[in-house]
Amino acid sequence: MQSWGQTSTLRRMTENFVPVGAPVHRRVMSRIETALAARRNVLEVIPIPAYRQPIVSGEMLSRWHMLADPAGYRRVMSENLANYPKSEIMRRMLRPAIGDSLFNADGADWRWQRRAVAPVFTHRNVVALAPAMTATAERAAARLEASGGRAEMVHEMLTATFDVICDVALSGREHFDARAFGAAITRYFQTAGRASLLDFLGVPDWFPRPGEILAGGSVKTMHDMVAAAIQARRQMGRAGADDLLDYMLAAEDPETGQRMSAEDLVFNMQFFIVAGHETTALALAWALYLLANSPAEQAAVRAQARAQLGSRAATAADLEAMPLVTQVLEETMRLYPPVGLLARAVLEEDELCGRVMKPGDILFLPIWALHRHEMWWEQPELFRPARFGADVRRDKYQYLPFGAGPRVCVGANFAMMQAGIILSTLLARFSFAPAGPGPRPIMSMTVRPDPGVTLAVKVVG
Ligand code: HEM
Repeated sequence: MQSWGQTSTLRRMTENFVPVGAPVHRRVMSRIETALAARRNVLEVIPIPAYRQPIVSGEMLSRWHMLADPAGYRRVMSENLANYPKSEIMRRMLRPAIGDSLFNADGADWRWQRRAVAPVFTHRNVVALAPAMTATAERAAARLEASGGRAEMVHEMLTATFDVICDVALSGREHFDARAFGAAITRYFQTAGRASLLDFLGVPDWFPRPGEILAGGSVKTMHDMVAAAIQARRQMGRAGADDLLDYMLAAEDPETGQRMSAEDLVFNMQFFIVAGHETTALALAWALYLLANSPAEQAAVRAQARAQLGSRAATAADLEAMPLVTQVLEETMRLYPPVGLLARAVLEEDELCGRVMKPGDILFLPIWALHRHEMWWEQPELFRPARFGADVRRDKYQYLPFGAGPRVCVGANFAMMQAGIILSTLLARFSFAPAGPGPRPIMSMTVRPDPGVTLAVKVVG
């Protein structure tokens, strides 16, 4: 029998708002039940002990482990990184869309791409992209003002962040139909993006997955559009380096001088466009859900945003003066990390939390459970932005919404800046209250609120 977190007891105890948790199963599931649950909602396969112990192990077709221990994450993500490459299950799901571009590559192929792409995302370059974020925040506010007092925030935030990524990835857009691209992304997520039951059952790699066949059309649409935009830019010969594509065209490995091939560029741009907006939009929608249900926290952040912004939209330079906005975003991604679970392979024997990892084992990294773990967080179910106050110290590997070590998210600065600009602009102008069914977290590739976050939106005087 499954229930959604342990919220009812806590609610009685604290009279606080307790954000919705993951569905947890109170008995051990059979293999087929686990496979079906993973297809429905990846969060369902995280067993209760993963929220209470440093590591949980079991056997399905191969031996698996779920790690929820900061020292263990340090070993996997930094100290012994080469022993834990990305798992083939995840890479396979992503390969049709993003090939072996930066996110999916391993070894030497990853290293040179990382060296070439990292300078594109330096703080200076991201600040240069911020005016597009401010303009988008302004448009998002105008849409909310015209919404008639009620809006669904996942849709609103996806529209806003997609707007940003289209502007900063492929500015001008003369050769890019954002609406058609958006529709293709949605089709992709509904098909190939779902963890394949066949993968969990161990059906061989060459066997075609139904999702891949269905998703083929949408992937081709996306690739063709990105390739056409790149081609058009090359013909224009613009060398101004004023959007992400310009930076990528100019990117090269500082050690070897290697440049991206046409295919590398399409796959990497494709990944930036999809990952660069979906994850951030989900973090924003969850933040608005949490604030709508926490009037005191909402009032405090609004006061800070209004004091800094008045009625104008935020810029990159404003964020430092509004630390509460950043704290809300950080606490939101603790409770609802957009990337809730990662998977790694084990190459050679190693030890994690006193347990032996053997070659061929699968190592799951349930960021979701690490962030709600009883050993590392006090009252982990509660929404408390003050956990991220400037004077609070914690193990760096206890909080990992962007991963860590050499493979840490290359777009983390970009995401935080975009989310801070949009959230503070909206909070300075509107108040939010719940106005629809409470959302439930469902994870396929990212952690989404289902069926959405519908809120009452009121202009504040
Ligand atoms: C709130 C927003 C975001 C979240 C939560 C997020 C999360 C993550 C995580 C957890 C990883 C590490 C994956 C692993 O270790 O297996 C990652 C990697 C990556 N992310 Fe993000 N991301 C976000 C936004 C972005 C943006 C805006 C971009 C680019 C425009 C981006 C590009 C990448 C890339 C290229 C990698 C692969 C880096 C490598 O393997 O060297 N992400 N992200």
